Order: sequence, then C-alpha cells, then structure tokens
Amino acid sequence: MERIQADANIQTLRHISSIFTETHEALDDLLEEVINTATAIVGVKNASLLLLDEKSHTLQFYQASGKKKGELKQFEIPAGMGIAGIVAETGKPIVSNDVQNDERWLRQVSDTVSLDVERLASFPLKAGDKVYGVVQYLDKKDGEEFTKEDEEILDRFTQMMARFFQVTQSREQLGKELDQLKQKTLQNYVIVGESEPIKECISQAERVADSKAAVLITGESGTGKELFAHLIHDRSRRQNQPYISISCGALPASILERELFGHEKGAFTGADSRKIGLFEAADKGTLFLDEIGEMPLDMQVKLLRVLQEENFMRLGGTHPIQVDVRILSATNRELEKCVQEGTFRQDLFYRINVIQLKLPPLRERAKDVPDLVSFFLKKHSQDQRPKKLDKGVLPHLMGYSWPGNIRQLENSIERAVVLATENELSRESFPFDDHQPPIDVDVGQSLKDASDAFRRVFIKNTLKSTSGNRTKAAKILEVQRSYLSRLIKELGID
Ligand SMILES: Nc1ncnc2c1ncn2[C@@H]1O[C@H](COP(=O)(O)OP(=O)(O)OP(=O)(O)O)[C@@H](O)[C@H]1O
Ligand SMILES: [Mg+2]
Repeated sequence: MERIQADANIQTLRHISSIFTETHEALDDLLEEVINTATAIVGVKNASLLLLDEKSHTLQFYQASGKKKGELKQFEIPAGMGIAGIVAETGKPIVSNDVQNDERWLRQVSDTVSLDVERLASFPLKAGDKVYGVVQYLDKKDGEEFTKEDEEILDRFTQMMARFFQVTQSREQLGKELDQLKQKTLQNYVIVGESEPIKECISQAERVADSKAAVLITGESGTGKELFAHLIHDRSRRQNQPYISISCGALPASILERELFGHEKGAFTGADSRKIGLFEAADKGTLFLDEIGEMPLDMQVKLLRVLQEENFMRLGGTHPIQVDVRILSATNRELEKCVQEGTFRQDLFYRINVIQLKLPPLRERAKDVPDLVSFFLKKHSQDQRPKKLDKGVLPHLMGYSWPGNIRQLENSIERAVVLATENELSRESFPFDDHQPPIDVDVGQSLKDASDAFRRVFIKNTLKSTSGNRTKAAKILEVQRSYLSRLIKELGID
C-alpha cells in the first residue's frame, strides 16, 4: 500500500512538473490548474494562493479553489498576521491540525466567507531568500490530519511552484528591461533639428519612404546617413519587415559576396552548411548598403545584376531566388566623381540613385546645435540630472566647424559629461582646435548661409574681445546696439 502511494505521488509530481515546463498558458490559468492538481493529489478540500505585495507588505488572495474564491479576493492580510501572514514573514511552513484552537488563526476571513476549516497546511512560496507569497491547503477530504508525508509532498510542490514563479517574475523583469532597451534604441533614432535644411531632408525622406524607389543618402561623415536610412524604413510599409544593414567598405569582395548572396553546402572549402545571405534575409524588407562607394568593381557588377533582375543565386546554387527588397545606400564620397574616374559603375550609380537625399553638414545648420546639445546632454547624463552649459559655451559650439559633424558633437558632449566634476560644463570641457577654419567657404551653399556663418563667428569673436559687453561690441562693429542684439538673436549666438 505504502509503495503504491509513493508511486502515485511520483506520477503526480511528474505531471505537475510537466505542467510547469510544457504549458504556455497565461499565468492565471496556469496557477488555477496547478492549485486544482494539488487539491486532487493530496486529497485536500481547498487550496489558495496569496501573493505578497512588497510595497504594502500585505498578502492578497490571488487564486483559490472552490466556491469561495471570488469572495476571498477581497481580503488583504498584513504580513505577520494570521497563519498565512506569519508564514510570509518567517518564510517557514506551518501545519495546524486544529485551527479553531490555534491562536494564530485569523478567524475573520473564514468567518466572513462562512468557510468551515479544521486543518490547515500553509507553505511559503519562496525562491532563494525571496518570499513571493503563501500557498495554503485547507482540510483533507477524508477528514484526517495532515501527515508528515502530506506535508513533504505539499512542500515540494510549493517549492516547484515558487521556482516557476521566480522564472515568470524574471521574465517580467526581462520584459521591462527589453522595454527600456527599446526606449533607448528609439532614442537613438530620434532626428533632432528644426533648421530648414534638416526639415527639408526629413520631409523628403518621409515622402519617399513608401515607394520602393532606391534612395542614395549622401553627406559627410557623421551627418546622420544611417539615421535617415532607419527613418525611411520605419516610415515605410515595410516597417515590420526586416531592416538589414551591411557596410560594403569593411569586407573584402569574396566575403561581401557570400554575405550578400549566401551559399549552398559545399560551395567552397569550409562551407559545411547552407547559409542564407542578406538579400534573402531582407526579403520584403529593406537592405541598407552602407559605404557603397567602397564596393569593389567586380562586386558592383554582381549587385547590378540582382537589382536589375530581382533574383540571384546562392554561391554554388543552381536555382534563382526571387526577392523583394528595397535598397537604400549611403556614401560620403562624391559618386559622380567616382563614376568619372572609373571607380564606380555608371549603370549601378543610376540604379541606386533614383532619389538622392543630401544631408547637410552641421556647420551649415548651426541653428540646430543648441537642440542637439541638450538632446545629447540628456542622453549621456543617464539617470542623473542633465548637466548645464556655462554661459558662453553654446556660442563657442555654434561657431565651431564640426568636421566630424553630429557624431563629433555627440562624442564631445559625452566626453565632457563623463569628465565633468561640476554640474556646469565650462568652455574648457570642449577643447577644440581653434586653428580649425571656423567657417566653411566651400562653394555649394547659398550666399546667405555662408554670410550668416561668417557673421556668427565674427560677432562672436568681437563679443569675446569685449567680454560679452554688447555696447562696446556694437561700437567696434560700427552698428547700433539694438541691431547687434537682433543679429545675436537671429543668428542664434546666445
Ligand atoms: N539629426 C540628428 N539628431 C540626433 N542625432 C543624430 C542626428 N544625426 C546624426 N545623429 C547621431 O550622430 C551619430 C552619427 O550618425 P550616423 O551614424 O547616422 O552618421 P553617418 O552619416 O552614417 O556617418 P558615417 O559616414 O561616418 O558612417 C549617430 O550616433 C546618430 O544617432
Ligand atoms: Mg554611417
């Protein structure tokens, strides 16, 4: 008899552990099923699960078997009170075979819901040192006392439940962390800037997003080409499909080819399994070919073929594979020049350059510097209060030529924040090489932009020489003080 009993228990425990490992049901349904199973195996009449709310330090009925379960949910039991409260507080089980004469028993609950209880086994839902709640088993169907053996089974059972709980809780925690990560990633894709040139770029990117037209994003290093590639994908109908990016300059031709097109098993020495390439991985989505100007000529031919025919073969493959991929590319080279010099194929240039998005260098939109600065200050201050800039630092940053564009600005802010000992960042936190020509006199910008850039630096330097005294500066510049103030405002110097 003993033996059969033990076997039956092992069976039941197996059954329970399969519930824990195999089911993907919602937590509520799962707990309900578990409680019901426990009720069945030890032959208890009722069971309930109470969870500990860490903030209020109270136990709340989460699940209960039997008819009273709805009513029970209204109760909150302070930790330390009643048998369940003591179990939650101490983390130790309590078995009471005569609760009516047990002074720890909290009569109030059972009386209110008219539940006659004679015996009770109460176990902490505990993993490591953490108590998540309490599981209670009330009375046995045969009216007998809880035996040592019952106690052992119920204890093991509760421990299993606790482990499950721990996993679920850490899953929730994981979910929260993922959300935070997502927020952070989203922050990485924010495009800051209110200046006309950047607004025009954003609007152009939004207009082309929905078509399948190939877009070539050009601009100096650090102007946000990759950021705009993301923007186009995110605003397109392909937003929930893959976005795959590859830097064409970083890889030798043979590896780039394998990466893009994939290969069959045995296609070359070392190809011991089939691998799909990025074109296949990006099917229905977007493929971003970064630094396309660096692509070797023989790869350019292969790429052109795929773009023309919309199909390709894996290396060593015999069947053409059809794909639907939107191509975005980027370069900081002047591809027209490369075409003339013969380092970039003209036919490929036409294919990838259906629409060209030209991103302006930062020095041509110094007006955006203040917004960018506060965005990066916030981003790099982590959870602390963002640092502030000393007076005079912003004009210094606006007058600088930023050869590395926004990336350089971001890096300088990050560096300044990390090294800062004060709450305010001083001019010394941004030790730029002032011999750098502060204004861009290259052709390609409007006369107004060029003269604004010049005026910004000139006025700033004059103000510096008068220690910020506008009256003196106006005298030197031979303009009215009010006009100088207007210029300072318009050019965003202060
Ligand atoms: N308008 C903007 N607002 C906020 N952050 C920006 C903006 N433009 C660029 N950045 C940030 O500046 C950094 C450089 O941008 P990105 O990598 O897109 O430049 P890139 O043009 O691709 O540079 P490279 O040619 O060197 O590859 C990134 O961290 C990006 O998030
Ligand atoms: Mg880039």
